[in-house]
Amino acid sequence: MLKTVKVWTLKWVCGSALVLLVGLLTAQGAEAKDRVPNSIFSDPAVVELGKALFWDMQVGSGNGAQSACATCHYQAGADSETRRVVSSTRSDGIIGSLGVRESQFRGISLLEKGVASATDDTSKPLDFLITGRQAPPTVESEFTHNFWDGRANNCFNGVDPGGQEGQRGLHQWSKDGGGIVPTTFLLCDASQASQAVGPPNSDVEMAARGRTFPELGYKMLRVKPLAMQTGDLADELSTTTAGHYDTMINDAFGDVLGEFIGDEAVAGVPEIRVTDSNGNRTLVEPSLTEQNFSLFWGLSVMAYELTLESYAHVQKPTRAQKKSFKRMRCDSCHLTDGTSAAHVFTGKNGKSFISTGVADASIDPGVVDDFVGRDPFEGNFKTAHLFNLPLTAPYFHDGSAADLSEMLDFYIRGGNRVDQKVKIKNLKGRMKKRDKANVIAMLEGLTDPRIAKGSGPYAHPSLQLFLDDGSYFWMHASDDPEADSKTPGLSYGETKTIEP
Ligand code: HEC
Ligand code: HEC
Repeated sequence: MLKTVKVWTLKWVCGSALVLLVGLLTAQGAEAKDRVPNSIFSDPAVVELGKALFWDMQVGSGNGAQSACATCHYQAGADSETRRVVSSTRSDGIIGSLGVRESQFRGISLLEKGVASATDDTSKPLDFLITGRQAPPTVESEFTHNFWDGRANNCFNGVDPGGQEGQRGLHQWSKDGGGIVPTTFLLCDASQASQAVGPPNSDVEMAARGRTFPELGYKMLRVKPLAMQTGDLADELSTTTAGHYDTMINDAFGDVLGEFIGDEAVAGVPEIRVTDSNGNRTLVEPSLTEQNFSLFWGLSVMAYELTLESYAHVQKPTRAQKKSFKRMRCDSCHLTDGTSAAHVFTGKNGKSFISTGVADASIDPGVVDDFVGRDPFEGNFKTAHLFNLPLTAPYFHDGSAADLSEMLDFYIRGGNRVDQKVKIKNLKGRMKKRDKANVIAMLEGLTDPRIAKGSGPYAHPSLQLFLDDGSYFWMHASDDPEADSKTPGLSYGETKTIEP
């Protein structure tokens, strides 16, 4: 146990040193580093803001089916409840994640004077949309190039997942008294922040088509955090003075990013579309905080996700298990301690994104640029971490393995695509009788018991989960398993298998 903790600490110390180094070496990074010390990621106010935003169902555009980040990342950070999995199966056979109903954004609607409704004004909603890939777990997603194809940029620009610098809408108070001026931001080793600003306005995952981040900011600054939910955090925020997103942003970032925060209107940027209680549409200039909402969003959600670690809380593999893991060649790509080969600091160069022939690469090409030194378009996907697998089925980017046994059978037969350039081989000749059972036991042992209990960083509010026919059920809050039991629910950490 002691050894485990030491290794973990070492991993973090190396990580922090590198974050600082990268910050010092790049000119923009130096400015960003001065503005955002690495310590913000462990600031409880930043973590609390990120957790509230991650779980808040008011973020999604709605159409009667609200959604949060957690909607697709609720169980050990993945989307694995049986009914949801069935609802997320596409006509092409890929198991993705159920997103929002297709619609066009028209405005933020103010139902009461000065109070935004939790539902946006949109065109008539059509069918539910489903993502083209499985949702990988947010737990243990730190310091990798995020997404199955690694496209979330390692350097966060405060605005979008692509990460390039340049004028992209951020504004700040100028230091020499020149009022509010356009500005840029860049912070490296922050792939989770880059990733986090993608889904909120994605017209498949969470929003009606065309909603902008300042518009989302405008709405969130006018609603009560987690107003539709109960339990951990939701109840807490309803009784504290921090229970308002602008107070929470001030508490979290007032010291380090004060020049990005303010009620003053920003001119010369796209205006916020607002629908009043009579259905009239007007345009208003965003406030400075609203205009910069994506910056606070990315940094705080990353801070929350950094708390979702399992490494130090799992059983270490036995010698027999490790031997079987090696005999099945799993260790040629995955790390035996369960961490991802794509970890920026401790991963395996050359094995972090690789082709195992899960699916037809001409349909989903995986990595499309060479940032990991791989030939693009050949079906290279991220070598996943191996934590909490019993809670996150189905497996692989297309959800094609329903359980651990099917997942291992895939490797034993040498993958699904012998016609493609694939880096795994048929294992039948080299395996011993107990190998499969040993590896399953090893993977089960790499599960963090706190997740099923909903304890520590895994405590969470209730969450309404929709199915593709428009029906829904509630996941109970971790501290109140009886709450919201109006519809059949599930308790966090319940393991489900996929129905045939
Ligand atoms: C509709 C379902 C859905 C919603 C809502 C959603 N995600 Fe995801 N998430 C996915 C899918 C699918 C992927 C994989 C996409 C890919 O690799 O191309 C993913 C990938 C990720 C990853 C990458 C993990 C890794 O190991 O690389 C993180 C982190 C993540 N999402 C966090 C979030 C956050 C934060 C939000 C809210 C802002 C969010 N997700 C909202 C479905 C969803
Ligand atoms: C050649 C490198 C390589 C080898 C060898 C390998 N893997 Fe993988 N593993 C990957 C890659 C890449 C992915 C992602 C594949 C995808 O989804 O397209 C993956 C995905 C997985 C997943 C799915 C994780 C999730 O969250 O969906 C599991 C579980 C897994 N591997 C376990 C194993 C085991 C057990 C072995 C040994 C039998 C093994 N792997 C051998 C590279 C490898």
